[in-house]
Amino acid sequence: MSTHQSAPQSSAAQSETAQSETAQSSPAPAPTGSSTDDWIIDQAGKSNSTFPWDEFDSLWYLEHNYATVRDDDHQIMELIAKFFTAKAPRKGAAGLDVGTGTNLYPMLAMLPFCDQITLREHAASNVRWLESEIASYSRSWDAFWKILSHGRPPYEKIADPRQLVRFTATVEKGSIFHLEQERWDIGTMFFVAESITALRREFVRATRRFIGALKRRAPFAAAFMKRSQGYNVGKIKFPAVAVNEDDIRRCLENITHELTFHQIHTTTPLRDGYEGMILVTGRAGRK
Ligand SMILES: C[S@@+](CC[C@H](N)C(=O)[O-])C[C@H]1O[C@@H](n2cnc3c(N)ncnc32)[C@H](O)[C@@H]1O
Repeated sequence: MSTHQSAPQSSAAQSETAQSETAQSSPAPAPTGSSTDDWIIDQAGKSNSTFPWDEFDSLWYLEHNYATVRDDDHQIMELIAKFFTAKAPRKGAAGLDVGTGTNLYPMLAMLPFCDQITLREHAASNVRWLESEIASYSRSWDAFWKILSHGRPPYEKIADPRQLVRFTATVEKGSIFHLEQERWDIGTMFFVAESITALRREFVRATRRFIGALKRRAPFAAAFMKRSQGYNVGKIKFPAVAVNEDDIRRCLENITHELTFHQIHTTTPLRDGYEGMILVTGRAGRK
């Protein structure tokens, strides 16, 4: 339960960083209330490093996304708990959740199988929130745990998940683009690669970097907003790359195996400007 700076970069990682920062160097301005079309044009071509991530309003995001269990998150939790119960190492794994934000359920889904879980987050605000939250997570997450654990022995065996999180989770401040490679045994990445940049090549690089951080055959779950046009967090508008299933498949097919795609629909979307969620499960590396 501590915060670490990420490890020094390899030369390969440094070259990735350099590429990821070529598009723009000045911070993205806060939105001015322009229309969605204006905003897409304004953000076009802006890289991850140009957005004010440290000002990400953690409490606003938490309140709008995870104050209660949404039906789409419910569907995703059922799918990932089933997948990890079938495919995860029995115990003792090192887990990774990248771009955790204020969402604890991907980490909770890995909890029964891990001795240690790294929460790798870039935004200083979210890092502070996570450090405080994992010390004793809020009661609102009990409803999420109930769904993950119901009828699944690896989860039901855990008498006190709150205490186990305190001893298992570690917050690391760092970027997805600097993840060490082939370090973790199981991993999750939720609404990150397509929601941290307006550059398609950075979406690809982030997704591949996440998969590369996992050992060969490590099971993973990754979720994506479908055809997202960007999103507001409080007063700041953050970018997205509008991806569909084909884009994700192209990005993953040569570096993973046992891929399964799930289209997640809801009658109560979170906001305008996206077309549902896509959940992908699989194993890292070629077969
Ligand atoms: C749309 S939010 C998703 C948060 C959370 N995983 C969820 O499921 O709601 C994107 C997250 O990616 C983080 N992020 C932005 N740039 C990043 C980077 N270069 N490396 C890692 N995380 C990054 C943001 O701070 C934010 O927490």
